[in-house]
Amino acid sequence: MFDRLSSLVIALTLVAVAAIFAGLAGGDALTITLLAAAGAAAAAIVHAAVPGAPPDFDGGTGAPEPEAPPPSLLRHPDFARWADQEREPLIGTADNVVTIANDAAVRLLGRHIVGADIRTAIRHPAATEGLAAADGASPPPPIDLVDFPRSGQRWTLRIAELSGGDRIIFLSDRSAIDAADRMRSDFVANASHELRTPLAAILGYVETLHDLTGETDVPTRRRFLSIIEREARRMQQLVIDLLSISRVEADRFRRPTTPVDLAAIVRTTIAQLQDSEEARPKDIVALPGDTAVPVLGDEAQLAQLVHNIISNALKYGRAGTPVTVELIPEDADRVRLSVSDEGDGIAPDHLPRLTERFYRVDEARSRSVGGTGLGLAIVKHIAERHRGQLDIASEPGKGTRVSVVFPLAA
Ligand SMILES: Nc1ncnc2c1ncn2[C@@H]1O[C@H](COP(=O)(O)OP(=O)(O)OP(=O)(O)O)[C@@H](O)[C@H]1O
Ligand SMILES: [Mg+2]
Repeated sequence: MFDRLSSLVIALTLVAVAAIFAGLAGGDALTITLLAAAGAAAAAIVHAAVPGAPPDFDGGTGAPEPEAPPPSLLRHPDFARWADQEREPLIGTADNVVTIANDAAVRLLGRHIVGADIRTAIRHPAATEGLAAADGASPPPPIDLVDFPRSGQRWTLRIAELSGGDRIIFLSDRSAIDAADRMRSDFVANASHELRTPLAAILGYVETLHDLTGETDVPTRRRFLSIIEREARRMQQLVIDLLSISRVEADRFRRPTTPVDLAAIVRTTIAQLQDSEEARPKDIVALPGDTAVPVLGDEAQLAQLVHNIISNALKYGRAGTPVTVELIPEDADRVRLSVSDEGDGIAPDHLPRLTERFYRVDEARSRSVGGTGLGLAIVKHIAERHRGQLDIASEPGKGTRVSVVFPLAA
């Protein structure tokens, strides 16, 4: 309520007033002196016990203390720790000078950027322009860095404005998203092209049939009709393949939970291929064994995978040479489905691209045997969904071995 000095003054005043009243009331001088001394001593003790006023910051001048600037976020020890945990590059700048760069930024731009001007650290005209335009008032829009850091790549740059001219600059890689977009549009273009070719042939032959006069020989008509039928079947097969690829893709993250017997699926598929009009049914040498091979799987999809791999070996192998289908234990938990042929093989350059949609080593040859170039793309997706590992090994002139290692059902 009162500070220390005021309390002391009030206490001594009260002692003096009490002594005067005591004198007026007729008290003797010794008693009044003793009481006044006791009161003064009590006031001194209380004065010593009451806490003093807080120290004066302005040194007693009375002027208001200027507000200290807030500590910089960039210099906080937790900031560096957090920044290094971020997977994307992150840079802190103070007045356009890089004061901190996380591990990802150092990997992307080099360690030398710390201490450099941000415009030299990120050498890109759009970055220079965007960083200069950011005024600290409104949140700056993301900046597109095309062909950064190398041609064909794209990154985006975002600026977070802090107080005191500090900034955090975030970089994110958009190259993979662009590649996926490109793949999607390539896929649509390729699919349209694949459908357009047989469609053009069908329309051409239908027109020719229309133009034929009544007495044209029956064999010519038959030939044209069978071409139309073949091309229509190609289109049908293409649509079936496109539908199955999109179905497998839609189920990509849903692992099958039903135990199925892979050996039985292989036996059934081989029997179907041998019953079909395949050119070389007798060349299939099946060694799947009699014991059941349990895997968690989608029976129809696994049958399609087996069918696609074996029919490739039949199509691209040499007539009269064996196509060997085996189920070999890989280790205690896995089994390898292996299909080997003794065909012309595939040159190493093509191997990494075989599972791309519509990719064919020899387009004319594949087309002539009715291939759409989707078979191995479907195989890859089905294998992935079943946590299987696809492996294609080939020796030009000797043959090819396509295998998928599946985890066994516990
Ligand atoms: N066993 C093999 N031997 C040699 N080349 C092969 C073999 N398997 C696949 N290829 C090559 O890989 C390409 C892609 O195969 P994929 O199964 O994806 O397509 P496709 O057989 O042409 O058409 P689809 O299977 O859709 O009918 C083939 O065009 C062929 O050139
Ligand atoms: Mg194929």
